[in-house]
Amino acid sequence: MAKMEVKTSLLDDMIGVGDMVLLEPLNEDSFINNLKKRFDHNEVYTYIGSVVISINPYRSLPIYTPEKVEEYRNRNFYELSPHIFALSDEAYRSLRDQDKDQCILITGESGAGKTEASKLVMSYVAAVCGKGAEVNQVKEQLLQSNPVLEAFGNAKTVRNDNSSRFGKYMDIEFDFKGDPLGGVISNYLLEKSRVVKQPRGERNFHIFYQILSGASEDFLCKLKLERDFSRYNYLGLDSAKVNGVDDAANFRTVRNAMQIVGFMDHETQSVFEVVAAVLKLGNIEFKPESRVNGLDESKIKDKNELKEICELTGIDQSVLERAFSFRTVEAKQEKVSTTLNVAQAYYARDALAKNLYSRLFSWLVTRINESIKAQTKVRKKVMGVLDIYGFEIFEDNSFEQFIINYCNEKLQQIFIELTLKEEQEEYIREGIEWTHIEYFNNAIICDLIENNQTGILAMLDEECLRPGTVTDDTFLEKLNQICATHQHFESRMSKCSRFLNDTSLPHSCFRIQHYAGKVMYQVEGFVDKNNDLLYRDLSQAMWKASHSLIKALFPEGNPAKINLKRPLTAGSQFKASVATLMKNLQTKNPNYIRCIKPNDKKAAHIFNDALVCHQIRYLGLLENVRVRRAGYAFRQAYEPCLERYKMLCKQTWPHWRGPARAGVEVLFNELEIPEEEFSFGRSKIFIRNPRTLFKLEDLRKQRLEDLATLIEKIYRGWKCRTRFLLMKKSQIVIASWYRRYAQQKKYQKIKSSAIIVQSYIRGWKARKLLRELKHQKRCNEAATIIAAYWHGTQVRREYRKFFRANAGRKIYEFTLQRLMQKYFLEMKNKMPSLSPIDKNWPARPYLFLDSTHKELKRIFHLWRCKKYRDQFTDQQKLIYEEKLEASELFKDKKALYPASVGQPFQGAYLEISKNPKYKKLKDAVDEKIIIAEVVNKINRANGKATSRIFLLTKNNVLLADQKSGNIKSEVPLGDVTKVSMSSQNDGFFAVHLKEGSEAAGKGDFLLSSDHLIEMATKLYRTTLSQTKQKLNIEISDEFLVQFRQDKVCVKFIQGSQKNGNIPTCKRKNNRLLEVAVP
Ligand SMILES: Nc1ncnc2c1ncn2[C@@H]1O[C@H](COP(=O)(O)OP(=O)(O)O)[C@@H](O)[C@H]1O
Ligand SMILES: [Mg+2]
Repeated sequence: MAKMEVKTSLLDDMIGVGDMVLLEPLNEDSFINNLKKRFDHNEVYTYIGSVVISINPYRSLPIYTPEKVEEYRNRNFYELSPHIFALSDEAYRSLRDQDKDQCILITGESGAGKTEASKLVMSYVAAVCGKGAEVNQVKEQLLQSNPVLEAFGNAKTVRNDNSSRFGKYMDIEFDFKGDPLGGVISNYLLEKSRVVKQPRGERNFHIFYQILSGASEDFLCKLKLERDFSRYNYLGLDSAKVNGVDDAANFRTVRNAMQIVGFMDHETQSVFEVVAAVLKLGNIEFKPESRVNGLDESKIKDKNELKEICELTGIDQSVLERAFSFRTVEAKQEKVSTTLNVAQAYYARDALAKNLYSRLFSWLVTRINESIKAQTKVRKKVMGVLDIYGFEIFEDNSFEQFIINYCNEKLQQIFIELTLKEEQEEYIREGIEWTHIEYFNNAIICDLIENNQTGILAMLDEECLRPGTVTDDTFLEKLNQICATHQHFESRMSKCSRFLNDTSLPHSCFRIQHYAGKVMYQVEGFVDKNNDLLYRDLSQAMWKASHSLIKALFPEGNPAKINLKRPLTAGSQFKASVATLMKNLQTKNPNYIRCIKPNDKKAAHIFNDALVCHQIRYLGLLENVRVRRAGYAFRQAYEPCLERYKMLCKQTWPHWRGPARAGVEVLFNELEIPEEEFSFGRSKIFIRNPRTLFKLEDLRKQRLEDLATLIEKIYRGWKCRTRFLLMKKSQIVIASWYRRYAQQKKYQKIKSSAIIVQSYIRGWKARKLLRELKHQKRCNEAATIIAAYWHGTQVRREYRKFFRANAGRKIYEFTLQRLMQKYFLEMKNKMPSLSPIDKNWPARPYLFLDSTHKELKRIFHLWRCKKYRDQFTDQQKLIYEEKLEASELFKDKKALYPASVGQPFQGAYLEISKNPKYKKLKDAVDEKIIIAEVVNKINRANGKATSRIFLLTKNNVLLADQKSGNIKSEVPLGDVTKVSMSSQNDGFFAVHLKEGSEAAGKGDFLLSSDHLIEMATKLYRTTLSQTKQKLNIEISDEFLVQFRQDKVCVKFIQGSQKNGNIPTCKRKNNRLLEVAVP
């Protein structure tokens, strides 16, 4: 398949018209409106044929990216929307492929974007030309020369924050392949007056501010500078800082650029020393001093600054001081020295500063050229880029503006010449008849300025060389005489009466009607500036400097090369260099970029119609369009033309097999375009009227729509068809799959049915067989049984006589044995647990085993009890014996008993042996203590309780004082007759003593203890073991107690809950003690 190629054209997606040549109708209003419309849509570039009009957008647009570079690379000029890259590409390719030297002429007012345009051109060319380490270094050096020159040669003016104050023409040299080899820069007339004085709101050259803001303290110290701008008279203060400009950062950029361009460290150092010296010169001040002979003389006010300058530059201080005070004039071997008055001294100082700086600038250009010079001697192709100061009209215009505007006149001249010449040549080349057109030729203005006899520059030179007193006024007078009749010269003083009453024209001025407008020049300073005088004493002083750069800047100061001839005036120098430039440009193929400023405010988005109108008027752009359209508005090579419009005719669409020209002829005939509307050149078709082109474009657009519809139709048909075919194919696939699936299903069903039927039949057969076999077996069995019975009967009949006597008993015994065996075997598995309290016992299986079963249960219980008992130690046995005893004594008799079951019987609750308090008590009792516990002894008189220690030993019961441990009573066990207590839940008990015994004197004891059950049990056991008599324990809710002589009845009653759970004891009367138990 053939490769699809998308051909675009300038005519696609056009905002307004991209090429003014196609403007219809063509007049100033439509021209401006078209520019405005495009500007509003961010289209800052518009063509007039091959000329690019560029409107400064005053903001960065995203149209200079590497992608854009690629887009415009190797494309035809009219293929894409207008762009500075298209022009650069055209120029570069024409240079590389057609071997034509090129020049790119950028014109426009100050601030219109010339410098930016020149940089864009250079960066585009750098991006598209050859690559490689060496080539890249050359490119880098060429590009980096810009920041250096801009730092030294640009300044902020009211029109432009980065205005070039010098003219620059740069030749970039290429080899035959189009790789860059190097370059040559020429500079024109630096505006050096700016060094010593700047207009309101403007700045000195950038470099001064950059050094002061960006240099390190160390470096500043070396240069003997201070960071403060206000310290320097030469730096205007009103706008030391510019918005959006970082002087310090720019200083670093400049130093870096200088390094890349190839400046040695010592060179850079010297350059900055000169800059510092210039800055410091401005601080030298003079004061008047009268001499005896009446001559005015001046003196330096403060020599400190002078001293520092001299240290910096290596000049003898006395030499420089003298040069500021005297002026020596040499004439014919005669030397005359005159003193300088204060004004002259200041003049001399400023002249020196200006000269130093402008010479330094020229030196920089020379030095850069040395670095970027092409290294080979092969033939070079050249692309020149001219970025010269634009036309300037200020309020006060001086010599500088005059020179600048002259230069612009010359450029306009060359523009007119070259465009017309180009146009004419093309018509001749293409064999088309040339029709003459009217346009304003500014040659007459150039003549007014540069004519060798009567030109203004010539007259200025004449005045400067004339002996006698020469002033600016004499110069003006002379002008008035000679130029009075010139159409473009206006002056109040001229004899020509036209301006005699024109008050807008002061007497000290003259006015020139430039092609770009009228400019009024102040004559003041013309003579001085043209003379550009530097007193010889100063140049000699400079030459004597030990600073090698300064010495080299002032070669005329060398006394050995003294030249008494006057140096060339500034005007004639400039005229000569402009003439050379023009000659140079004429040999090259010109490409124009005409820059336009949309407003005076440096603001984005503002389009001032009047301002733009003025510029297009003086740039002659409308004439440019007319020239371009003279006869034929539009031309295009045959191939692209046929390519663009071939769809409009059946014969040429889609392919034309003949030569392109014949194709276009057929096409135009078919379309019935009137013959006078076009003409066939050798390689191009010429179209007279833009209307015809637009008609073609409309037809094309219409046709494209039709074609699009056609393509759409075919595509839709194709799409539907393919879709249908695809669906059909899919349907077949689906159907086949479905059928297969259905058949499979059906087959499965048949198969499973067959198996079921089969299994039923097999089952039925098998069952039948089984039935037969079973019947057979039963028959066999029946036969066997019958046989057995019959045999049995036979045998029994035979043995009957032996059986009768023993058989019954034997069978009985045997059966019994079997049953017993079975019973024991089963019992073995059903045994209950070994816990003595487990009541479970298996049920009895046979009635005849009843007694055996009960006996077995008893034996088993005894056995497991024994087993249980065997586990106990002797001590545990004792405890359980005691517990058993307690149980026998109190169970179901005393309500306190159940609570005591869980409490272990400890006996010695009071550890008498361990407590030192009871040492005496312990010593007194030497038997084993069975109980030691605190009890309450009830007072017999009032029923109150007192704590006593109750001790039970093997033989005695003792009561002792709880605090002191003193024994209060001691009763042998034999004297205890009885213990009484209630049946309730209290701890009261009475110990009854044997009547007549020693202890019984005070009466029985009535005590109370929490461990009553334990105490009573132990007392009972001990008594039993010691006296072999059972102690009488009486449990009753009413008993008698012997108190001395009386018998008192202790009665237990149900008490209220008032006193809590504690029983209370109360003596009611002589015979009754009541205990209330809750
Ligand atoms: N193509 C552009 N895109 C964005 N800003 C621009 C462009 N051209 C010019 N400018 C702005 O306008 C200012 C002046 O441009 P410059 O080229 O220095 O003017 P000229 O050299 O004509 O005096 C620049 O500093 C920049 O801010
Ligand atoms: Mg500029």
